[in-house]
Amino acid sequence: MQTLSWADIDLSAIAYNFDIIKQSSPNQKTIAVIKANGYGHGALEIAKTIKADAFGVARIHEAKLLRDKGIQTPIIVMSELLAEDQLTECEQLRLEPVIHSAFALNNLKHFRPRTNRPFRCWLKVDSGMHRLGLNSEQLDTAKCVFEAHPNLHLVGLITHLASAEKIGDPKNTMQANAFKQLAAKFEGVDISIANSAATLFHPDLRGEWLRLGISLYGINPAHQSNTVTENLKPAMTVRSRIIDIKDIPQGDRVGYNGIWQATRSSRIAIIGIGYADGYPRHAKNGTPVLINGERFPLSGRVSMDMISVDITDASKPLKVGDVATLWGEGLDAEEVAQSCGTIAYELFTSAGQRVTKIYR
Ligand SMILES: Cc1ncc(COP(=O)(O)O)c(C=O)c1O
Repeated sequence: MQTLSWADIDLSAIAYNFDIIKQSSPNQKTIAVIKANGYGHGALEIAKTIKADAFGVARIHEAKLLRDKGIQTPIIVMSELLAEDQLTECEQLRLEPVIHSAFALNNLKHFRPRTNRPFRCWLKVDSGMHRLGLNSEQLDTAKCVFEAHPNLHLVGLITHLASAEKIGDPKNTMQANAFKQLAAKFEGVDISIANSAATLFHPDLRGEWLRLGISLYGINPAHQSNTVTENLKPAMTVRSRIIDIKDIPQGDRVGYNGIWQATRSSRIAIIGIGYADGYPRHAKNGTPVLINGERFPLSGRVSMDMISVDITDASKPLKVGDVATLWGEGLDAEEVAQSCGTIAYELFTSAGQRVTKIYR
């Protein structure tokens, strides 16, 4: 049964975005980042659609779901705890853990692979973001661990930029230089620096492996554009329906705490999506909602199951059952996100269980 709110997921848009980005970086291998259920778009469906060199997830259970459904592509587990038993699970599922902490490194040191197959691992380097990653001394230890265990295979070195979307920010080059200096300890090993923003706007920082997330889903992560970002197609369009329409007199207020007041006689549409569906509760009055190709302002606080929109200026009469677009085709998710004090990443990953995904 179709739910009141739904997300149309355009897999061909994801495939298209993947292709145009790859064409712009033809010499790099690609990790398609499909953690958090493919940023809310459906990790399995994406894994079946695009031919990435590897997929990136955050947790082992995300990778297991893919393996259980027959996905054979290499899967990199980027931010797990990596306790001893989890390393065993990674080996069993042929996952490639990113060793990012002293704890994980110590577990790897004592880990004995059960098969003769090389156990493929990555090392994360802290080049200045100070979130995950090993420092210089820990990298020396890691080097000894890999040298001592011939069954361990170091696939690559990863670092993450703190401000990649700020194009031209000298901190990006500083981080990349610090990373390259540390990576030099591991001669001939592949490196990976670039997320979407670095891939699209810092060609010098790409390394051998790209890690593409938000751009696959059609979002330009930066505040400037280029020929690739101008052609990205949105892959998720969240829609719902008008469940009631009412006329209110000038001066009346709408919704919880009456944070919106009618400055004229107004017509209000109630739309069946709320914060329990993933529409952000912090959306400001005026956040755009698209109905019949026209933009209308959010009017009043977002409730758990519904929002209210001022449709007084509709050029054609609207009725109960009409479809509203909350973000996606025709309404840039990043614009909506900004009006909600957040980013498109959060909109996408918040689209909840009550929002059915419809693939096309
Ligand atoms: C380690 C790592 N690499 C790559 C990505 C992909 O970043 P983006 O979605 O900005 O392309 C992420 C996303 O958060 C990440 O955590």
